[in-house]
Amino acid sequence: FGLMLYDPAFKNTASCRSAITLIDGDKGILRYRGYPIEQLAEQSTFLEVAYLLLWGELPNESELAEWSDQITNHTYVHQYLIRGMEGFKWDAHAMGKMVSLLGTLSTFYEDSKQVRDASVRREHIIKIIAKMPTIAAWCFRHMQGRPYIYPDNELGYVGNFMNMLFRMAEPSYKPNPVIARALDVLFILHADHEQNCSASAARAVGSAETDPYCSLAAASAALYGPLHGGANEAVLRMLREIGNVGNIPGFIEGVKNRERRLMGFGHRVYKNYDPRARIIKGLAHEVFAVTGKNPLLDIALELEKIALDDDFFVSRKLYPNVDFYSGLIYQSIGFPVEFFPVLFAIPRAVGWLAQWQEMLSDAEQKIARPRQIYVGADKRDYVPMSERG
Ligand code: CMC
Repeated sequence: FGLMLYDPAFKNTASCRSAITLIDGDKGILRYRGYPIEQLAEQSTFLEVAYLLLWGELPNESELAEWSDQITNHTYVHQYLIRGMEGFKWDAHAMGKMVSLLGTLSTFYEDSKQVRDASVRREHIIKIIAKMPTIAAWCFRHMQGRPYIYPDNELGYVGNFMNMLFRMAEPSYKPNPVIARALDVLFILHADHEQNCSASAARAVGSAETDPYCSLAAASAALYGPLHGGANEAVLRMLREIGNVGNIPGFIEGVKNRERRLMGFGHRVYKNYDPRARIIKGLAHEVFAVTGKNPLLDIALELEKIALDDDFFVSRKLYPNVDFYSGLIYQSIGFPVEFFPVLFAIPRAVGWLAQWQEMLSDAEQKIARPRQIYVGADKRDYVPMSERG
């Protein structure tokens, strides 16, 4: 096989050079374009972070105003997309709908196929970031059998999203500022995470010069899985199943006997506490001050305490990841578990687009095409049906 290396799941293979996100897994460090995640979560906003990830630098005042204005002006989606939505059963999983509708959007924008044109790319990057909350909110309303609420372009990115989700009959609905800020911070924390499964999917599909909508549909499909972004939903289901603190020791024994995994724990790169989980844990208390404490919090805290003191988890360097505490916040805000991965996908679209754009701008990148080590049968002759046993 010449120089070919065997590296299942690409554990030790760098597939690209990237200047977007840095993770130091041993130290538990995460930086976007050099800026520590803690500083961005504390001082920035999601749209500013989106600009930073995509264009490399923090925007100045007028750049940010123009960027926010451009996003705000593309929040509406074509009416025909609603027909696609209506084709789903009312209880269809929200993430299944997102995957399909993102792919459907590609059919509305034939020009998005000109992926080598930077100005076309920019136009569709803006459209996607702007439309993700609208499609997501409509998936939510569809699940509930409630009428769709159209975007209100007077509101900010998260305020508009909350309005489309939660406004009922009264036109005076105002998003709670603590909840709105918490969602904005969660969006910042989820915006990018270098070459994870879904970003790699976006890059791989995009490397065939597929349009960004289909590339992101592929990325969302990857994110949907319970080992990736679907873990936030799986954590909540797990906490509910455990039910009370007294059942934790038996549950942990089951994990150690490899009957199941402790969802929201472990990471391919972090061999230390995930810095995002630390911020989210603190954020949860701010949200619970408004919504009331989530009764599942005590189970999560006790699980973490036991796991961080148990040799099975310590020796394997398994720590809480971003998905361990986020679901508790989402549930307290009023989201059903089936919607949690969508809340991950909205901000991660920015990371996927940044990775996709970087890949297309990199002269060293070609169509993604891993090799294999063939272990199948040697050459043999076709056997007619009458001679088969
Ligand atoms: N519970 C119990 N054991 C675990 C867990 C867990 N959550 N995660 C890893 N292990 C064990 C695993 O059994 C293996 O043990 P051994 O070497 O004795 O066979 C060892 O730790 C290494 O695990 P691995 O599966 O080789 O590690 P990986 O890098 O391939 O997988 C992971 C990373 C995130 C898929 C895995 O830790 C996992 O399944 N975690 C639970 C799901 C989850 O929370 N996913 C969200 C990840 S972070 C956000 C995101 O990506 O979306």
